[in-house]
Amino acid sequence: MDNFSFRNPTKLIFGKGVLEQLKTEVPKYGRKVLLVYGGGSIKRTGLYDQVRQILDDLHAEVSELAGVEPNPRLTTVKRGIDICATEDIQFLLAVGGGSVIDCTKAIAAGVRFDGDPWAFVTGKERVRDALPFGTVLTLAATGSEMNANSVITNWDTHEKYGWNSPLVYPSFSILDPSFTFSVPKNQTIYGICDIMSHVFEHYFHPTGHTPLQDRLCESILQTVMEAAPKLVNDLNNYDLRETILYCGTMALNGMVSMGFAGDWATHNIEHAVSAVYDIPHGGGLAVIFPNWMKHNLDVNVARFRQLAERVFHVDSEGKSDRDVALEGIEALRRFWTSIGAPSRLADYDIDDSKLDLMADQAMAQGEFGQFKKLNKEDVQEILRASL
Ligand code: NZQ
Ligand code: ZN
Repeated sequence: MDNFSFRNPTKLIFGKGVLEQLKTEVPKYGRKVLLVYGGGSIKRTGLYDQVRQILDDLHAEVSELAGVEPNPRLTTVKRGIDICATEDIQFLLAVGGGSVIDCTKAIAAGVRFDGDPWAFVTGKERVRDALPFGTVLTLAATGSEMNANSVITNWDTHEKYGWNSPLVYPSFSILDPSFTFSVPKNQTIYGICDIMSHVFEHYFHPTGHTPLQDRLCESILQTVMEAAPKLVNDLNNYDLRETILYCGTMALNGMVSMGFAGDWATHNIEHAVSAVYDIPHGGGLAVIFPNWMKHNLDVNVARFRQLAERVFHVDSEGKSDRDVALEGIEALRRFWTSIGAPSRLADYDIDDSKLDLMADQAMAQGEFGQFKKLNKEDVQEILRASL
């Protein structure tokens, strides 16, 4: 293990009926609130009315930023920053999925940043301060509700980058599994693929001797794989929604990754694909991850073998490490296909015409990946295998 220090200040409030706790949480941060939400799902489910009622009962002065896109855009972040400045906002409340939360993080930091927020999204400058914000999560996937990451798209330049700062951990996050009942089947599947991909990004690290971290990762994968096939056929099952929601938070809140740096190359490639084609993040990962795995099999074949044996229960008797490892990757592909995830970029009508552009976008900040550094040829090969 590498040396590490760990601090996650987000107060996680989880379970049935926990929305009530907004009543005690919000007043800690101020009366002038910016409510941030997406394209309307919270209005259709009635969650918007519930949140507004609580804020009205608190006599909060509420402004709104509606219409945050999936793969949230810089232009929307700037709209939010303008509202905060004009209305003298003290606290932001994100109600939605990862996109709404990521956008809120960029607004919270952007309000206190002198200059274009794209400068900190691209890593050219560091965030120096941020407004406090809380979240009410409606979709299990990104872990944004309990981490300090945010991913923003500049649609004018077709660039999509993740950034992070310890200043943008949510102050609190409210997770009621029943708020995820209405997530449609396809988004539920994408969320499952995203959660598993976060675990894989951790699992394939170059640091030796991480036995507990390995077991924690394997445990999340096994738990997701047990619940997922049942959930996609039973979307209103509270227990299954609860399991996936909790797994989503645990997969990317730092708990399983103390003592090493994960790889994150597949995420980088997927962000380049969705910067060019605006596809759902989890769907893109499901297509690309098995191909990243095959591409990097020989970097540490024993690690792939361990995954195959422990998580996919591949029978290794009399087989080479490589064969066992490959069977594990095939088992992952079969599992994702069995729950309805895409397996080819062609499923999103993506052909090779912009392959070079996607590879260039992925390389925009130089070579990347911890398990193995990828160059442009590596990225092209992984993308070509994904067509
Ligand atoms: O916009 P609305 O109307 O709310 O609809 C959303 C959206 O269309 C809908 N939805 C959300 N909750 C719902 C619901 N529909 C019905 N019922 C509900 N309860 O689902 C659609 C997708 O929402 P979105 O927030 O985009 O999904 P997700 O949570 O998967 O977030 C994806 C974004 O997060 C980034 C991705 O790159 C992408 O931009 N990521 C953020 C990370 C982080 N902050 O740590 C890590 C991830 O790896 C990821 O990169
Ligand atoms: Zn992800």
